[in-house]
Amino acid sequence: MKKIGSLILFLVLAFSLSACAENSNKETSQKLPSDSSTESMVTMEEESAETEEHDETEEISGNHVLIAYFGRWGNTEFPDDVDASTSASIVIGRDGNLQGTTEYVADLIREYVGGDMHLIQTVEPYSEDYDKVVEKNRQEQEEGVVPELQSTDLDIEQYDTIFIGYPIWATTIPRPIVSFLSQYNLMDKTIIPFCTHAGYGSGGSYADIQELCPNSEVLTGLAVEAEKISSAE
Ligand SMILES: Cc1cc2nc3c(=O)[nH]c(=O)nc-3n(C[C@H](O)[C@H](O)[C@H](O)COP(=O)(O)O)c2cc1C
Repeated sequence: MKKIGSLILFLVLAFSLSACAENSNKETSQKLPSDSSTESMVTMEEESAETEEHDETEEISGNHVLIAYFGRWGNTEFPDDVDASTSASIVIGRDGNLQGTTEYVADLIREYVGGDMHLIQTVEPYSEDYDKVVEKNRQEQEEGVVPELQSTDLDIEQYDTIFIGYPIWATTIPRPIVSFLSQYNLMDKTIIPFCTHAGYGSGGSYADIQELCPNSEVLTGLAVEAEKISSAE
């Protein structure tokens, strides 16, 4: 009788031990997949971040990008001996050639994002004399002048994303930018403004662009202080 009792006790103990072992295995095996699933989640997140990045790049390169810009350089009959020390609107480009301040930023955007460059040029050039430009701009803004632009073969239809670059003139866009935005149909296009300025920032320029292009998506722009142009990159 005692032997049968011991046998039953042994069987019960053996059974509970094996059940414990199984449970602990189960715990281990439950932990493992969950640990590895965390790992795989991280990997998936990384992968999805990579994919998103990849998609974004594809999105940009798939888009047809135009970088249209205006500046005094290209719209002023500067004397032949003009250099970067003569005018605040001229900088030495990264290739060593003279460039306009806004053009410098336009070039950087082209380098990083890609796209076609388009210099916005007025039929009537602006004076090389800074004060005369200030005066002319004041008059153009006051009278709501829309200066005539030089004709080009620009086909705006082929672009989805349009960077618009300009110097800040009296806290907003110069009037030739108004001409450009009014002349071309930018409906449903994405507009990304960028500007250079003498330290007072983008002013009301982004809001003014949005007002002129109510059917375009105008993103927050990039404002670069002319004096800090060399670190604009
Ligand atoms: C007519 C005129 C008005 C300007 N008004 C402003 C202004 O309101 N705020 C500012 O920070 N800079 C102002 N500036 C400075 C220009 O925005 C700055 O020099 C710009 O970088 C010039 O770019 P660009 O060389 O491409 O023409 C003005 C310049 C001119 C010629």
